[in-house]
Amino acid sequence: MSRAVPFLDLAPGVAELRGELDVAWRRVLEGGRWILGPELEAFEQAFAAFVGVGHAVGVGSGLDALEIALRAHGVGPGDEVLVPAATFVATWMAVTRAGATPVGVDVDPDTLQLDPAAAAAAVGPRTAAIVPVHLHGHPADHDALAAIACRSRLLLLEDAAQAHGARWRGRRCGALGDAAAFSFYPGKNLGGLGDGGAITTDDAAVAARARRLRNYGSTERYHHDEVAGNSRLDPLQAALLAAKLPRLDAWNARRAAVAARYREALADLPGLRLPVVADGADPAWHLFVVRHPQRDALQRRLAAAGIETLIHYPVPPHRSGAYAGTAAAAARHPVAEDAAAAVLSLPIGPHLTEAQVERVIDAVRSAALALAPVAAGGAR
Ligand SMILES: Cc1ncc(COP(=O)(O)O)c(C=O)c1O
Repeated sequence: MSRAVPFLDLAPGVAELRGELDVAWRRVLEGGRWILGPELEAFEQAFAAFVGVGHAVGVGSGLDALEIALRAHGVGPGDEVLVPAATFVATWMAVTRAGATPVGVDVDPDTLQLDPAAAAAAVGPRTAAIVPVHLHGHPADHDALAAIACRSRLLLLEDAAQAHGARWRGRRCGALGDAAAFSFYPGKNLGGLGDGGAITTDDAAVAARARRLRNYGSTERYHHDEVAGNSRLDPLQAALLAAKLPRLDAWNARRAAVAARYREALADLPGLRLPVVADGADPAWHLFVVRHPQRDALQRRLAAAGIETLIHYPVPPHRSGAYAGTAAAAARHPVAEDAAAAVLSLPIGPHLTEAQVERVIDAVRSAALALAPVAAGGAR
């Protein structure tokens, strides 16, 4: 059966912005500066202003943004870093790649964001940082996490890879902690035409160190102050992202409208748990994640109705092969583990048509009602 509603179709966004994107890439082509330079600096300034911080440093990916931000704060071997047990594995791998040890922390059963009580309990003598993830584009509980970070003198590094434009009590995600990491992977709310990422911070010294760490430890050509990698956001990607940035708030508003319609139309279904919006949170709705005790059956029924869905994520990082045999793998995080078996991401995006939204709603309603007798037995 054809896919009536793909999970995410990026083509309409390109079509909407075709003129601006053509101007941007031609400017880069003709400008002749294809590493660092004015296109990158212009985007960094625009993105910092959008987030509401003093500095943005463009890097090669969201993973690199996290790793470089940790290193720029001196986090490394011997340090432990608290990370949510429900996240994309990059949050954990960045810690490992920085030479530190990720320590999994369970998430809140309602919002699936890092649980502040569990984080407070996990702080030990070697804890150097907390990395809350604004998972699905919903802000983590910043007030409670900032209090823990302040009390224990920990770095608070936001993983804002899914949260471009989200707000917590009016402030943008990316401007809440000591620093933040963004991804510009194509499917993100602000996505490039390839890989990319950025670090945001108000700390000029951290920004300067991050600029060195993305560029062979160098600020002056052929002078290298420390051993580092090569992870510079391409000027071509920067120019394309700069062309897309002015649309981000409007596109997020459209995502929010889709989410509001889903939440209204799916509220009464047996067994189906809808995403919860916490007090003070204004999500970016990167994903619309429902939970259902018969998740796989629900997904199959939706697929048969032409609705493409994805699972973010089927395996929590501590249960993945990458962490097999480590202390993290032995830990239990029941909320994250249960969520991995129940979550299902419905199509959401700024270019989903109203007809597509209604089609998703009809399909979810009939699938959930058909599964109701089973769901009733297994519902939590
Ligand atoms: C929560 C989270 N952190 C980090 C990343 C890593 O970003 P990238 O794919 O750009 O390396 C992603 C996205 O893929 C993500 O969703």
